[in-house]
Amino acid sequence: MNAPSDSGLRIRPYRDPDQAAVVALWRACGLTRPWNDPASDIAHCLKSREAALLVGEDAGGRVVASVMVGQDGHRGWMYYVAVDPDRQKSGYGRALVAAAEAWHNARGVPKSMLLVRAENARVIAFYRALGYEVEERVLMTRWLKTPPAPPGP
Ligand SMILES: CC(C)(COP(=O)(O)OP(=O)(O)OC[C@H]1O[C@@H](n2cnc3c(N)ncnc32)[C@H](O)[C@@H]1OP(=O)(O)O)[C@@H](O)C(=O)NCCC(=O)NCCS
Repeated sequence: MNAPSDSGLRIRPYRDPDQAAVVALWRACGLTRPWNDPASDIAHCLKSREAALLVGEDAGGRVVASVMVGQDGHRGWMYYVAVDPDRQKSGYGRALVAAAEAWHNARGVPKSMLLVRAENARVIAFYRALGYEVEERVLMTRWLKTPPAPPGP
């Protein structure tokens, strides 16, 4: 995993000193929500044996990309797929998804999956370019606690 991909991105497991860079990356990519504390998402991921957080370093050793992976034995999930806005369109996203798929494959999981908002055409186009297909499903949820307040105007 540590050898640089074709794009030059070096993907490796997250380490504690990466936290500020990773949270800044997620904020810059619009992946954080006011009701989600990214630091606690990271801590939760690190506690699980069935999940991991991978980061991508550029040639200068700067953290410029991330992907969180998980699996339930049948399906492999990816979350927080993020490339620094100044470094997008350089093949880093492709390298991250390949690393997530390799993580799933290494655990015998046959299918990689992710959730994207239906209106997020740009990200859907990215995953389509990597061979992903849209599967029509209905996502059903139920809040077990008081839902967070919706974002302000
Ligand atoms: C989505 C994201 C990870 C893509 O990363 P990236 O480094 O720009 O993607 P890559 O350069 O590796 O692109 C891989 C392929 O996807 C295609 N692609 C990327 N963005 C695209 C777009 N907006 N429309 C169409 N195709 C796109 C590229 O053309 C490329 O195909 P090619 O290799 O055949 O040329 C990046 O834009 C990002 O971090 N966005 C913000 C965070 C986000 O929304 N994450 C997804 C959460 S589900």
